[in-house]
Amino acid sequence: MTVIAIDGPAGAGKSTAAKQLAEVLALTYVNTGSLYRAVALAARRAGIAPENVTREFLQTLRLEYRDGKLLLNGEDPGDALRSAETAQGASRVSALPFVREYLLPVQRNAALREWIVMEGRDIGTVIFPDAQCKFFVTASIEERARRRMAQTSEISSDATLESVMEEIRIRDERDSTRATAPLKQADDAVFIDTTGKSIADVNAELISYLPPELQARRSH
Ligand code: DC
Repeated sequence: MTVIAIDGPAGAGKSTAAKQLAEVLALTYVNTGSLYRAVALAARRAGIAPENVTREFLQTLRLEYRDGKLLLNGEDPGDALRSAETAQGASRVSALPFVREYLLPVQRNAALREWIVMEGRDIGTVIFPDAQCKFFVTASIEERARRRMAQTSEISSDATLESVMEEIRIRDERDSTRATAPLKQADDAVFIDTTGKSIADVNAELISYLPPELQARRSH
């Protein structure tokens, strides 16, 4: 098992970088934010506020990765995971320690057989502290908000750069200050600032830090 852990705040270019790295190296890509988003989505569908999710409610859900894709009760939740409401709900449920505890084995099991690129907030610190390669990817808040604005499904139609920056600040603050597994850079993670950099530049930078046997898997 080989794990490349990519952590960082929302909109830092983490998903794009992780997906592309997985593609170029022919590794499985696992997005762990989807798990928290799926819990938030299921709660909303059941009429439960994120803070009121219980252990019993979690027991009613079936969450699993198949070929790197997250299934909620056997189905791909699709675009419903990507709304701004689901994102804030995910950040809120992710602050509940028993939710994190419940999702830990789901994430570890995703890496049982495969070489994976796993992205999230606590992959290098908590989920795979022994990951072979760790990155902490971030960007300026303005750039992150601009990228968010470009992903229209994630923002409401009346959103402005200011309002999106505010949403990001709220989520950063909550994700970084929660008591359990807060968003923070692992001591041994490589820090990558993607501000003003192209996807190709970020990709080349990530690859330059990988061990030769992983670099050798590069296909294009
Ligand atoms: O990466 P994302 O935007 O899909 O994540 C949604 C929320 O889920 C994020 O605000 C915090 C939470 N999260 C987490 O706490 N730990 C992870 N490994 C991934 C996401």
